[in-house]
Amino acid sequence: MDAHYVEFLSMLVRWLHVIAGIAWIGSSFYFIWLDNSLDAPAPGSDLAKKGVGGELWAVHGGGFYNPQKYLVAPAALPEKLHWFKWEAYTTWLSGTALLVFVYWLKAGAMMVDANVRALTPLQAVGIGAASMVGSWVFYDLLCKSPLGRRDGLLGLVVFVFIGALSWALARTLGGRAAFIHVGTAIGTIMAANVAMVIIPGQRRMVAAMKAGRAPNPEDGQRAKQRSVHNNYFTLPVIFIMVSHHYASTYSHPYNWAVLMLIVAAGVVIRHFFNRKHKGVYAWQYPALGAGLLAIVAWWTAPHPLPLPPVVGPVTFNRVRAIIGERCVTCHSPQPTFPGYTAPQAGVLLHTPADIVQNSQRLYQQVIVTRIMPLGNLTKITDEERAVLAAWVKAGAKMEP
Ligand code: HEC
Repeated sequence: MDAHYVEFLSMLVRWLHVIAGIAWIGSSFYFIWLDNSLDAPAPGSDLAKKGVGGELWAVHGGGFYNPQKYLVAPAALPEKLHWFKWEAYTTWLSGTALLVFVYWLKAGAMMVDANVRALTPLQAVGIGAASMVGSWVFYDLLCKSPLGRRDGLLGLVVFVFIGALSWALARTLGGRAAFIHVGTAIGTIMAANVAMVIIPGQRRMVAAMKAGRAPNPEDGQRAKQRSVHNNYFTLPVIFIMVSHHYASTYSHPYNWAVLMLIVAAGVVIRHFFNRKHKGVYAWQYPALGAGLLAIVAWWTAPHPLPLPPVVGPVTFNRVRAIIGERCVTCHSPQPTFPGYTAPQAGVLLHTPADIVQNSQRLYQQVIVTRIMPLGNLTKITDEERAVLAAWVKAGAKMEP
């Protein structure tokens, strides 16, 4: 397919993915809030006699709502029962399609970084796919093992597992792809929790009730455990999905540790909100989260690597020749790099005026973070980086 249409399709899929993700995480936040905000009805009241364990009143959009949660289940199931699952499935399906469009189909440029490991594009895609499936299988075994009965310890082991996965991916793929694959592994675990554990459990509960049997409480407990895990995954996974905008995180030499600090911050901040719904303001958690993020801010501050001294005069012609050789394949109105049909990130570098206009961004990408040239596919040398750095520092002038 023409690269333009692939790009357009990936735009539509991204749009869908964000919408579905908002619907999923939004309903998940709502139900966690609801569950944690319920008040028990007075003992002996009509509600208590009906089997209602908690209720609340809310006003929204000009109407009053009175949700009630039954301790186990109502005496008789209503005809119409709403389920929440397609938000999760749509998010996962569109996210995986996006992963294929943005990363897997361009694995050579988007996933492989020869400075990390010289993989073939196919190997990189294989590792990415295996990380998604393997993470779910391993996590599911953990939850089903005897460890699954000890919630706190299980949570800790899952965190350590995500850390090990981040480390392993950061040692095999480019930083940006490593981050996104940690995110897709977590997203896969979350969606599979819904599809393989929570929904089947609820189906069995409903079937038991329809057959006049009492539902197995284990189904409810298992669903609750997975749902709590999903709740703590939400903030970390959303950070990962926007992380590709923040090169200072994924291009850090210890990018996997940076990621885990941010994940930990997301988990403790989410914990604060879970407690807050119950009326407990445990400020030590957001304080800890802010502390962890402050460490990240300090740790990821740029420390440009030393460059060799420049030999000979730093002229604009020299700068232009370097950019012409190392950048213009991807940053011109009609890029010649395979698969690209528009200047990447909208950055043009093919005319003198464009080079001067983008000089500060160029400095940031080529000298400070060294993200550009992408994966150093065009093999810029340190001597050439030094020339570009010296030119920007001297005021980025167009002459001679
Ligand atoms: C193989 C293709 C490729 C090459 C070669 C390349 N770039 Fe890029 N460049 C990209 C892509 C893809 C992006 C968008 C990255 C993103 O979306 O985060 C980008 C983004 C940028 C940005 C914008 C980043 C931002 O967020 O501000 C700048 C500036 C840039 N490149 C400069 C350069 C310079 C300078 C060179 C040459 C030394 C270069 N690029 C070589 C593919 C390339």
